[in-house]
Amino acid sequence: MKQGRFIVLEGLDGSGKSTAAELLKQKLTQPGAPEPFLTREPSDGPIGRLIRQALTKEITLDPKTFTLLFAADRFEHVQNEIMPALKEGRDVLCDRYYFSNLAYQGDVAPMDTILGFNSLARTAITPDVVIFIDTPPEECMRRIHSGRDAEELFERIDKLKSVQALYKEAFDRLQDEEHVVCIDGTLTPEEIISEMMQYLQK
Ligand code: TYD
Repeated sequence: MKQGRFIVLEGLDGSGKSTAAELLKQKLTQPGAPEPFLTREPSDGPIGRLIRQALTKEITLDPKTFTLLFAADRFEHVQNEIMPALKEGRDVLCDRYYFSNLAYQGDVAPMDTILGFNSLARTAITPDVVIFIDTPPEECMRRIHSGRDAEELFERIDKLKSVQALYKEAFDRLQDEEHVVCIDGTLTPEEIISEMMQYLQK
């Protein structure tokens, strides 16, 4: 059976990435074909659940431990969920992958170190495409505040600005190894999906 495609979505908190992922899944669902598998990181596995406790500030972890946990969660996710789904011929839509680690934890450790933490996952599988939803940090903060009250760990304007810069640095650095596509996050969800489909049909 033909392996599915591994499609990664990246972007800031509030970028519209998760909505786009849902819509893309609907668009890629074809009668008679294997159902696309929509998944996310941090994953819903045991390490992912621990990470979410730190994101909601229920527990506090050393930032370096936290960085390692994201990479460990990713390897579990790759082995237990992503690879099996791809082998069944399903397209996998993954809401965040190791670029999130480089961008969000890029202030904790050098990029080479974080790439090292992710080497097991990266050796196991490389995305067919990484789609970056490029939404200005100010717009992301506006969307976060209009949606809910409780703020997660990284939902601050200064943090989002630094994450945005680190995403761009990571894309530049890995341009020969990864296929990254940037889409303007201020477009409507329909326009975003239509741009994504153009790339995916190429
Ligand atoms: P989540 O509530 O799932 O939001 P989102 O829809 O923005 O993905 O939160 C995930 C948070 O975890 C988000 O702030 C980014 C952060 N994160 C990292 O810091 N490093 C990582 O490697 C990953 C996968 C996520």
